[in-house]
Amino acid sequence: NSIKPWGGRFSEATDAFVERFTASVNFDQRLYHHDINGSIAHATMLAKVGVLTEAEREQIIEGLEAIRAEIVAGKFQWSVQLEDVHMNIESALTARIGITGKKLHTGRSRNDQVATDIRLYLRDEIDAVAKELTRLQQGLVELARTNASTIMPGFTHLQTAQPVTFGHHLLAWNEMLERDYQRLMDCRKRANQSPLGAAALAGTTYPIDRAYTAQLLGFEAPTENSLDSVSDRDFAIEFCAFASLLMTHLSRASEELVLWTSAQFNFINLPDRFCTGSSIMPQKKNPDVPELVRGKTGRVNGHLIALLTLMKSQPLAYNKDNQEDKEPLFDAIDTVKDCLRAFADMIPAIQPSKDVMYEAAKRGFSTATDLADYLVRKGVAFRDAHEIVGKSVAYGIDSGKDLSEMSLEELRQFSNTIEQDVFNVLTLEGSVAARNHIGGTAPAQVTAASERAAQKLSRR
Ligand code: ARG
Repeated sequence: NSIKPWGGRFSEATDAFVERFTASVNFDQRLYHHDINGSIAHATMLAKVGVLTEAEREQIIEGLEAIRAEIVAGKFQWSVQLEDVHMNIESALTARIGITGKKLHTGRSRNDQVATDIRLYLRDEIDAVAKELTRLQQGLVELARTNASTIMPGFTHLQTAQPVTFGHHLLAWNEMLERDYQRLMDCRKRANQSPLGAAALAGTTYPIDRAYTAQLLGFEAPTENSLDSVSDRDFAIEFCAFASLLMTHLSRASEELVLWTSAQFNFINLPDRFCTGSSIMPQKKNPDVPELVRGKTGRVNGHLIALLTLMKSQPLAYNKDNQEDKEPLFDAIDTVKDCLRAFADMIPAIQPSKDVMYEAAKRGFSTATDLADYLVRKGVAFRDAHEIVGKSVAYGIDSGKDLSEMSLEELRQFSNTIEQDVFNVLTLEGSVAARNHIGGTAPAQVTAASERAAQKLSRR
């Protein structure tokens, strides 16, 4: 058992299965950069307060950098017997520089070490996710700007409701993503606190300088309470909550993209490079990318529930349970990054079939509300107007005519308040242009909204 840093009090070797069962090195080795950075900050602080000599600090940092290079080069031998990334690196350090390596763990525990590592790792990943999210939003806002007056049917209950502009629809997606971005930044604030120095649970007897290590690692401040520091995994849960909601939004957009690419809608074309074919049906072009994003929402939701359940009822402070935080968090990060990348690449490549969208908006009596509003403006009470238009629609269904295709005489069967000027409001263009207020679908509003959104993105 001598290979284990904790072997002193043990009198028999660890059971081989238990060794494999309790090890995390196969998945936590991805923390190695941040583990080494945390160790360098710790050693630097120990030298500053006089627990290590300057020469020892230098030796430790040199050794850790050599190990980092070895890992980067793929030459490092990871060992399951050494359980996790922390003990693998510490053992390699001692093998490399001798007794000084054994001093690195002074005033520290793997409990504050791992909490520090995950926070550092997550902070970097949050920044990478934020970048991809921003790229996606930029693409959306640009596509919205160029489609500020592209008319399509708007839906409620997936039934044709009122005409909207395609740009307006895209900006609705952008609003969802904007809130996701705000949530991500909020999560970053709480992740960016330094637990280093909490040691195992109660702090340490050495004259450590926690503000200094926090500063060296770019953390905003040291965490407040040592017991909480080693057992808090809120930041991982918060990230997964962000990720779940983001995936929910991407799944909604995915669903619409899948619908829109179908022959029945045919609103957009997704270029071939984002689609795949069928091994049996030669004619097929499937929207696999949005379908997969929609499907991956399930696993991210699962990770959120896994972490919430992991933390539920855990007594203070650190418990080995916490080792189970990593795989869900890592997979949530990987999945979200892939999905954002797929969307950020795909969105600018969407080719709207404007004529098809326009014709679709003409079907389904999408300007019926406009006719009702027209009657109200002429003095008819809204409920009466609703009834009059309902009868006109019934007539349209029987005669196969849209409201805009009926003659004035036909329309006047239902109300003699209707006059020649009605045709201004029955056109799709008139309908969208009339919704001309903040948040409305009028082309002028969509142009202004896309400019505001682009401005906001440029300030990030
Ligand atoms: N591999 C462990 C984890 O991921 C590191 C902390 C272990 N601490 C302990 N006292 N066993 O949580």
